[in-house]
Amino acid sequence: MSHSQLHPLQVNPATGEPYLRLGSPLENIILTPQRPSDVAYNVPILNNPDVVRWLEGLPYPYTPSHAESWVSSVIEESDAILRELREASAKDPEAPLKIVGGCPVRILREIKEDGSEVYLGDIAFRRCEYLHVAHEERLRLSEENARRQVGDPALVWCIGYYLASSHHGRGIMTMALRTLLSAWAIPRMGVRRIRAEVFMGNIGSVRVFEKNGFVLDRTLEIESPNCLGEMMPGCYILWWEHP
Ligand SMILES: CC(C)(COP(=O)(O)OP(=O)(O)OC[C@H]1O[C@@H](n2cnc3c(N)ncnc32)[C@H](O)[C@@H]1OP(=O)(O)O)[C@@H](O)C(=O)NCCC(=O)NCCS
Repeated sequence: MSHSQLHPLQVNPATGEPYLRLGSPLENIILTPQRPSDVAYNVPILNNPDVVRWLEGLPYPYTPSHAESWVSSVIEESDAILRELREASAKDPEAPLKIVGGCPVRILREIKEDGSEVYLGDIAFRRCEYLHVAHEERLRLSEENARRQVGDPALVWCIGYYLASSHHGRGIMTMALRTLLSAWAIPRMGVRRIRAEVFMGNIGSVRVFEKNGFVLDRTLEIESPNCLGEMMPGCYILWWEHP
């Protein structure tokens, strides 16, 4: 297979797995596709209250069987994108780079000096579903967004991410978001608009977004539960528009 349609992903010569390396000084961190073996590593992170307090929509406690079905659905999604790119390369090796509906690399891994890898977390783009908008308006906006074609500049995206607490505060998620935006989301997914929803009080996440050019739009003071079942008082809405 020609790897041109994977640009700018690199390919691990030993495993054939595509990856993206974060920039300096975090070159020891890479983004890869999800692997079946990740089940053992994301269960403890997604049972850590310091992490899941800021997340919504995940079951808690998070069991290995939750992780197994999640991991296999993520693998299916990234395999489909890689297949689409592989087929495009096979059909016409000279074709311009294709715009696709997702990013096949999303799992953050630290490469240790001995070459072993540590699972650190996940960062992914998805179509915005306007979670914190009142019911009817939410349906209207999310249905309208679901009808938009991949590459439509009006398509609104969302981002979900988390990192193992052992690695918080080292600039990793700021750099991961910066890298994914510039290397893949903008050029390879045609992402032009992103709406971020952050629980009130999650200053770390707001800073990650702001340091990547997101602007705080407003605070919605509507209570909703986090993964621990605690009622959160509201959320911040931030927007990013392609400059
Ligand atoms: C939010 C999260 C991904 C941030 O990742 P990170 O790699 O630790 O963030 P960074 O190190 O890039 O930090 C970015 C900024 O936030 C600040 N920050 C990070 N954690 C913070 C915290 N708990 N409280 C206050 N500020 C914090 C950093 O100091 C930095 O700001 P600065 O450059 O002005 O000093 C991580 O804390 C996490 O996984 N939290 C739990 C899950 C979560 O909140 N997901 C997002 C849901 S919207």
